[in-house]
Amino acid sequence: MEKILVIGSVGQIGSEFTIELRKIYGAENVIAGGRKTKPSEKLLNSGPFIICDAVDKNQLAEACKKHNINIIVNMAAILSATGEQNPMLAWDVNMNGLINVLEVAREFKMKQVLVPSSIAVFGPSTPVDNTPQETVLKPTTMYGVTKVAGELLADYYVAKYGLDVRGLRYPGIISNETLPGGGTTDYAVAIYYEAIKNKKYTCFVNEGTRLPMMYMPDCLKATIDLMQADFSKLKHHSDFNVGAMSFSVTELAASIKKYIPDFQIKYEPDYRQKIADSWPNSVDDSAARKEWGWKPSYDLDAMTQDMLKVIGEKYKKGLI
Ligand code: SER
Repeated sequence: MEKILVIGSVGQIGSEFTIELRKIYGAENVIAGGRKTKPSEKLLNSGPFIICDAVDKNQLAEACKKHNINIIVNMAAILSATGEQNPMLAWDVNMNGLINVLEVAREFKMKQVLVPSSIAVFGPSTPVDNTPQETVLKPTTMYGVTKVAGELLADYYVAKYGLDVRGLRYPGIISNETLPGGGTTDYAVAIYYEAIKNKKYTCFVNEGTRLPMMYMPDCLKATIDLMQADFSKLKHHSDFNVGAMSFSVTELAASIKKYIPDFQIKYEPDYRQKIADSWPNSVDDSAARKEWGWKPSYDLDAMTQDMLKVIGEKYKKGLI
């Protein structure tokens, strides 16, 4: 039986992924771990929650022992923008947290570890269009540095110890449950909230900025599908490119205008422009498609319709 610990369960992806796992494996079998941020009522009411900081190896090991954990999902990370404000914090959480997760999983002979990576592993010298699976990994952010090192570390544990470690390079993830925090792609979430609330948005990257993006339902599906894939069929382990859509901010705004015709956007690029400019426009995810059957469902307009519907309902109810 699976007993899963989700580290970083309070974050943008963790909060929804924990609930998704609970639907599949049963609420009691999925322990939500959080560090500082307060969990939502929805998360708290959906199953067990514990304070668990992966940077504290003893706390992590104790939690795994107490709850008989055999799978760790490590969703905790300091993202690119916060990482540039506080590089040492990014290193600490992203690297020390990760090696503790891998070590505890090795010591406890766990069944599986899931460690997400990111498009932030790429840098200015990487080909920008349809970025290959195997390519130059020379990021210029601390977040990217930790994600490249994390992929290498994860693959090391696979090769050296035979530990089942898997991961995928998330593009910008767009969602309507928990706000992202401290990422460069956060504009693609904020724009929908502002479109509903104020019919206008000031974007912190310029109109031509084009990045790979994915809607949360596809992110949840990709992550579950990778977790459930036959390990013996995987040639890659912790670094799968996964694509879904790629759009510029102009195209994103145009998609919103189809449904909110008087929506207005202006641009005030800040330090995050440089980060966005160092990442690809789109990725080649043929390895994920071939090795575990990855296929996204949402394109830009389908996502826009759903985002505006869900956020619009929350706004009417006074929840945002
Ligand atoms: N969403 C992340 C960020 O912007 C990328 O993985 O930092």
